[in-house]
Amino acid sequence: MSVGLLAKTPARWLERACCERDLLLTDHANCEKKAASTALALMFAYAEDLELTDRLSRLAREELRHYERVAQLLRDLGIRPARLSPGRYADGMRKLVARAEPQRELDLMICGAFIEARSCERFAALAAALPAHDPAAAMFAALHDAEARHNRLYFQLAQRAARRAGLELDERCSEFAAVEADLITSTDPVFRFHSGVPASA
Ligand SMILES: [Fe+2]
Ligand SMILES: [Fe+2]
Repeated sequence: MSVGLLAKTPARWLERACCERDLLLTDHANCEKKAASTALALMFAYAEDLELTDRLSRLAREELRHYERVAQLLRDLGIRPARLSPGRYADGMRKLVARAEPQRELDLMICGAFIEARSCERFAALAAALPAHDPAAAMFAALHDAEARHNRLYFQLAQRAARRAGLELDERCSEFAAVEADLITSTDPVFRFHSGVPASA
């Protein structure tokens, strides 16, 4: 079981991604680092929960290996490293996260599941949209299954958090799904890996 997305990646985002592949890869490297650091932050926040810390430790290591793979591709393609401001997506999702426990833990796990689900969906769409000879297409195809697994892992942690605290899971997932779909289908002035519809064609 995993969370389901309400919207497919818009065609205009994919067209832009194919034109801005270097920027896309630079931001993708950032996303992998951020995925690892988010998992580490959760390990600190829920340090007493050994099952959670074990599973997120493995996830953090895997995300760092993904980062190394993207970084190697950036080097191979001669793309200069650059500092990029983050897009609106992760912050937009985190706005929905409750401040108080136990709702906060459930929300953080749901949030993680949606971000992984979107990465997974974008990897599949990019692998199909980029020219077959582009090494980025092969990398996106290769990373797809890991992100699907991460989606399931965060969803399992969300199920567990909901069960323990007697919280409603499905309704909360629907709320996150609506916000996520809006971030993906509305106009977004900044092009990034998880951005919405590009402001200009
Ligand atoms: Fe990853
Ligand atoms: Fe991931």
